[in-house]
Amino acid sequence: MGTFIKSGEELIQLLILIILILTAIVLLFIVLNMYSVIHKIIAEKEGKTVEPFSFQKWWQKEAGTDVPIEKEEAILLHHNYDGIQELDNHLPPWWVKMFYASIAFAVIYLGLYHVWNITPLQEEEYQIAMEEGKKEVELYQSKTANSIDEKTVKLLVNDSKTVSGGKDIFTGKCAACHGQAGEGGVGPNLTDEYWLHGGSIHDIFKTVKYGVPEKGMIAWQATLKPNEIQSVSNYILSIQGTKPVNAKAPQGDKATAGVDSTNAKPVANL
Ligand code: HEC
Repeated sequence: MGTFIKSGEELIQLLILIILILTAIVLLFIVLNMYSVIHKIIAEKEGKTVEPFSFQKWWQKEAGTDVPIEKEEAILLHHNYDGIQELDNHLPPWWVKMFYASIAFAVIYLGLYHVWNITPLQEEEYQIAMEEGKKEVELYQSKTANSIDEKTVKLLVNDSKTVSGGKDIFTGKCAACHGQAGEGGVGPNLTDEYWLHGGSIHDIFKTVKYGVPEKGMIAWQATLKPNEIQSVSNYILSIQGTKPVNAKAPQGDKATAGVDSTNAKPVANL
């Protein structure tokens, strides 16, 4: 049920559908009942008696078993193959009705799917479902992208998409001060283990988001979206220990891998 009904709206639609079907069934019974009452009144006026409806009799007729075994002689065909004979039975009426119904269904089906193209074919249905799925994914991503902050930022150094996205941002916006390879320039070397403001993903996210304006590091929260800050922070961690040429001398404290800095300035309050 959980996967079948995805929202309250769908649940209400399902309930309405169930109510409509039940109403239709009740209406059908009322109409059938009225029909039999009218039928009875007319028959009685004409002086005929109406037998009450019997399911057994109805089925006997539908099943096509109207030739009793004693009278089979009459419908026996004249050929005989090694003692095997054939009866010329009529097709059972229920079967014939189903057969005509399936022809009518085929005509409607053909019209809907292949002539007027009202209902989509399998492949088209697949495309539509894929489009819908894509939109849902985009919506989900745009929602979660904006909810990332220094507490919920994820360490995704092994996710090549995140890292390469981060690299593009770094080359475009950060390399001017931190060097093309993160070796440092105006800003500190980002490839060594020494950090002024902490080297965990949370610390780096925080530094990039709020900046250190008085020291020349811009606050990027107005320019970059939260998921972009997440990408560039992960890129910075992915170039740890790459030892680029012309690396700037270490600044700050040596970080213990994976541990958030405790002595980092509360840059959030700047
Ligand atoms: C205008 C130059 C400039 C630009 C552009 C710049 N930074 Fe910085 N960045 C600095 C300076 C200067 C510091 C050192 C701040 C300090 O001394 O506290 C710094 C510090 C940092 C730190 C902290 C390093 C540590 O040791 O704790 C990180 C992380 C960082 N920058 C990431 C980035 C990213 C990511 C970008 C691009 C989105 C960027 N920076 C763009 C100048 C810059």
